[in-house]
Amino acid sequence: MESRFPFPVPGSQFPVAKTAAMSRHFLAIPDFSRAELDRLFALAESMRSGAYGKKPLAGKSLAMIFLKSSTRTRVSFEVGAWQLGGHALFLSSRDVQIGRGEPIPDTARVLSRYVDGIMIRTFAHSDVEQLAQYSSVPVINGLTDLLHPCQVLADILTMRQRFGSYEGKKVAWIGDGNNMANSWINAAYRLGFELMLACPEGYEPDQAILERAQRDGRVTLVRDPNQAAAGAHVVNTDVWASMGQEEEQAVREQAFADYQVDTALMKRAARDAIFLHCLPAHRGEEVTAEVIDGPQSCVFEEAENRLHIQKAIMAALIGGEPLA
Ligand code: CP
Ligand code: NVA
Repeated sequence: MESRFPFPVPGSQFPVAKTAAMSRHFLAIPDFSRAELDRLFALAESMRSGAYGKKPLAGKSLAMIFLKSSTRTRVSFEVGAWQLGGHALFLSSRDVQIGRGEPIPDTARVLSRYVDGIMIRTFAHSDVEQLAQYSSVPVINGLTDLLHPCQVLADILTMRQRFGSYEGKKVAWIGDGNNMANSWINAAYRLGFELMLACPEGYEPDQAILERAQRDGRVTLVRDPNQAAAGAHVVNTDVWASMGQEEEQAVREQAFADYQVDTALMKRAARDAIFLHCLPAHRGEEVTAEVIDGPQSCVFEEAENRLHIQKAIMAALIGGEPLA
């Protein structure tokens, strides 16, 4: 078997030395230009339709580090890597040394010698930034407390499928100013569509992310869900207590009581509006069963789109698929 380590191996199919400068990471939506994001959406569509038949991950491996639970992210990355000809390793923090305190820089440098890309889901965003800093292979953010960029790209892919484009559309965010809200703000900043967020006091999005997007003028934060939903093409929400906030559930239920997406709120939106939720959802809390299981809901197309967009991201960052 040929060596995968960075020593010269005559005839090796693997790169003998990778440097950090060679790798491109995806930690946040603005890491890509608008043109590159449009190319990723087009690539994802060609993968969804079956037109894309290449195997850019052949002979390549993806390490998937999880410090939080996951259904969609884990399965879509693992299946997606396999469909592109590659192999994915599920590394739960319960089993690998990072969960026992092995330093992130060491983990990054070790994994970089075995695998061709690293996907990580964790708590502190700074941990993912540090992983990327020390990794010589691409790092993909599979959710932090701050951001969930893969999910929001899947959501915009769903918007494109339904409306043909994100251009000229209004997106409403109802509820917590959490990792999903922050990624929507980043997307509106990069792609230029209108985003109106309705968040209760004390649960606003990240201030720096919001201020940067507001300088371009198309992102607004309000308190009233009816104002945010008015005329919106997409009405979007998420759980009131994210992973790691379970102990705040009771307090949050009170704070978000007026922020449930129900049929009355959907009636404020455009006639052809869609409802999105990254899932998992709590029916009867942030959304009624009538809405999430109703005709305007696109939550399962949205979940499927995780697979297509992440394949496009992996093909580009790990498989060398050009984005220009
Ligand atoms: N939406 C999402 O990221 O789902 P999982 O937590 O199941 O991965
Ligand atoms: N905001 C949620 C998203 C889950 C996919 C969380 O962080 O738990």
